[in-house]
Amino acid sequence: MDKINILFSEDEIAARIKELASELYQKYGDEEVVFVCTLKGAVFFACDLLKKYPGDARLEFLRVSSYEGESSTGKISLKMPLDAEKVNGKHVVIIEDIVDTGYTLEYIRKYVADMHPKTLVECTLLDKKARRVVDINPTYSGFVIEDLFVVGYGLDYDQKYRNLPYIGVVVK
Ligand code: IMP
Ligand code: MG
Repeated sequence: MDKINILFSEDEIAARIKELASELYQKYGDEEVVFVCTLKGAVFFACDLLKKYPGDARLEFLRVSSYEGESSTGKISLKMPLDAEKVNGKHVVIIEDIVDTGYTLEYIRKYVADMHPKTLVECTLLDKKARRVVDINPTYSGFVIEDLFVVGYGLDYDQKYRNLPYIGVVVK
């Protein structure tokens, strides 16, 4: 296996997720919230976030694809749809692993918004702000990172490394 430089350890990720969960709970209190996890990358984050979220939470999934290797193609395609009735009239939180150019989140946001949720916010674990092409700013973000290609904790490089418990950079 390649050498990986750790950027965020398991403990750092867990501590930040706890904070995010309580920020979200402060916002919604005991009102029902539908968390929409984008597959596959955000699945580790979504599970850990929901385990720390003490309110009334539902979990739904959708899958889009936009990435090949290290570069976003900008062409987003929907691979697994979301059932509109699951989010219509609800408080919805889109859960993303990372926002890079912003094309993916912009697409997902519009897709979910068209289903008329009661409220809609985004929560991403990582935000590569400097790489943004589209004007979109996630409501909640775990960590802002530099322009680095990161792997682990759900994030992959051509489907590899998702299972690392930390987030890191592959040393080439
Ligand atoms: P965007 O459309 O350019 O914002 O890309 C967002 C998607 O690309 C994310 O949901 C990830 O799946 C993937 N992605 C972007 N940056 C990275 C990275 O550093 N490592 C792994 N996947 C990434
Ligand atoms: Mg993703």
